[in-house]
Amino acid sequence: MPDNFDSDSSMNHAATTPIPLVDLATQSQAIKQDVLRRMDQVIDAGRYILGQEVQEFEQQFASYCQTKSSVGLANGTDAIHLALRALGIGPGDEVITAGNSFAATAFAIAYAGATPVFVDVDEVDFNLDPSLLEAAITERTKAIIPVHLYGQPARMPEILEIARRHQLLVVEDAAQAHGAEIDGKRCGSFGQAGCFSFYPGKNLGAFGDGGATVTDSTEVLEQLQLLRNYGQKVKNQHDQLGYNCRLDTLQACVLLAKLQHIERWTEQRRQVADWYREELLDMELTLPVERSDVRHVYHLFVVRHPERDRIIEHLKTRNIFCGIHYPNPLSQAQPFSDCVTVPLDLPVVSRLATEIFSLPMYPEMTREQVSRVGQEIRSFLPAKAVAS
Ligand SMILES: Cc1ncc(COP(=O)(O)O)c(C=O)c1O
Repeated sequence: MPDNFDSDSSMNHAATTPIPLVDLATQSQAIKQDVLRRMDQVIDAGRYILGQEVQEFEQQFASYCQTKSSVGLANGTDAIHLALRALGIGPGDEVITAGNSFAATAFAIAYAGATPVFVDVDEVDFNLDPSLLEAAITERTKAIIPVHLYGQPARMPEILEIARRHQLLVVEDAAQAHGAEIDGKRCGSFGQAGCFSFYPGKNLGAFGDGGATVTDSTEVLEQLQLLRNYGQKVKNQHDQLGYNCRLDTLQACVLLAKLQHIERWTEQRRQVADWYREELLDMELTLPVERSDVRHVYHLFVVRHPERDRIIEHLKTRNIFCGIHYPNPLSQAQPFSDCVTVPLDLPVVSRLATEIFSLPMYPEMTREQVSRVGQEIRSFLPAKAVAS
């Protein structure tokens, strides 16, 4: 047992109850009856594949994302992979993306047969640095995939302007950014396609895997519908090479039930973020910066400190659990070891990978829980020196 572990049995129970990184149980209970009612209808109707709940969800989700349409898919990785294929991206093409994303972004590029090119990120908002983009563009570049990492929108106006000048497609990885906005416009609605994950821990999460691609283009919509269903418009008529990447009807029931609450849950996440700021403002810890034109949806609350491993360990002894998103730059992963990085070795991504960590974050977190996290960090870290 660590020296600083307080085993005093009289200690307040609330002060030792675990605070997980993510808590799905409370939210699942809140929607359980609605989900069961919807699933009951699917079971009775016997439409398990592409049932009407999938279409209903697609319509509601497109409207939520401020796009004309959406296509329900098996997961967020497929959402990116099929979006690239629907846009005609394939072997010989280069696709630029952020060097600090989850591996799926680069995997999806590789599944399409294209080559990822990793660009460094902004030290302040941790997203693709638009000032580096032009150095990464070659005659083979076909698309840019900005990632709205942790729920903070990437700098889309600058990225779109560069894409327009170089005639590049833009596919947004919005897997962590349901409902995030720039000047009131939703993430996923800026490029030719926007890709979402409904992995259970996401801001809008299924009871299993799920994903969707949103788009304003009828052509992209039709391509996605073909690609996700073995390339068939008519049963057993396979017009092109397709896949089995459909959103499950039972998962659509969960997503429909949750979509009714997502706005409230997002505001609760933003409230938790505000509480964290109050608690941690005077600490020697770099807090997330929310740009003034954006609505950050705090999929994760990621802070930064050179001694993050010691802080994480300390918090663990106090039953508070953190994460690291992500500890290894993608360009160092074995499948991408030959890939181009701009600039060489991605200095910001590399630094961040050793310093960032994610504090517990979920809509149902209470003021008391946030205070406890703050106090435990305070007991470990000195307050910022105040200039005299
Ligand atoms: C940034 C990012 N892109 C893509 C994905 C892939 O989504 P999925 O796990 O649903 O395939 C995820 C989630 O895991 C993600 O966080």
